Amino acid sequence: MPDVHVSLADRSYDIVIGHGLLAGTSTRCRDWCGLAAPGSALVVTDSNLADSHAATVTAGFEADGWLLGRHVLEPGEPSKSLAAAEAMYDSLVALPADRGTLVVAVGGGVVGDAAGFVAATYARGIRFVQVPTTLLAQVDSSVGGKVAVNHPRAKNLVGAFHQPAGVLIDTATLETLPERDYRSGLAEVIKYGVILDVEFFGFLEDNVAGLIGRDQDVLGHVIARSCELKAVVVEQDERETTGVRAVLNYGHTFAHAHEALAGYGELLHGEAVSIGMRRWVGSTLRPLDANWRCSKRSGCR
Ligand code: GLY
Repeated sequence: MPDVHVSLADRSYDIVIGHGLLAGTSTRCRDWCGLAAPGSALVVTDSNLADSHAATVTAGFEADGWLLGRHVLEPGEPSKSLAAAEAMYDSLVALPADRGTLVVAVGGGVVGDAAGFVAATYARGIRFVQVPTTLLAQVDSSVGGKVAVNHPRAKNLVGAFHQPAGVLIDTATLETLPERDYRSGLAEVIKYGVILDVEFFGFLEDNVAGLIGRDQDVLGHVIARSCELKAVVVEQDERETTGVRAVLNYGHTFAHAHEALAGYGELLHGEAVSIGMRRWVGSTLRPLDANWRCSKRSGCR
């Protein structure tokens, strides 16, 4: 499966995609951080993954001889809070962490956003690596450097732009992902086809059976192309200042309204995005010209 590179000057990084990569996370991290010897790391995950995917990752770090801490969050949106961040700072202090310590986020969007926020703010910013284990996190939230916790009045209100040192996507994690979470992630995949790449949208239409069946070859292409499209957008508007990056929010305005009205936790994010995209298409507005396409090779127009 092809790797994707995100070009952001000294904040550039690779997205590595493959099957069965988790055990080698430690080696990748040393490579990405330029470490000749093992360093120190805090692995952040949630209690659903602590004994499975996160255990595979931490076993690799232990075997390599890293000074290792573990921090296990409660699953779900409440862990994107300043209280949860404070507990992660405590784990870093206990390690003890220094400016060279790496935060490794193993999980879905909540884990990546919260652990990334802690990495962005601890000691004025330390490195972190994303190991996304849900489809939605693999194609969206782990790429692009948006990290945040929620304020009681608004989602993602307290946050930063802090690019990871690398993103490791193990497609084997999708084999055990609950069906509802998997389909929720597909919404963000379809979004890329609608907003940026009509050929990719056609590929999705032609490969519905492979997508539903979680065919590894289909998934590898779909995840790589989604990441590539997101990289192109982020490279042009890293901090969402020019309006280019706003295209990624297609369907999200309605989505946030539906999530808020339903009560956070009722609708999965991708489910709300699906509703949002359908509402947008049903309105008289069109998000982009249907012929607007984006290719990593030819550049966007
Ligand atoms: N998820 C939208 C963005 O990263 O900008």
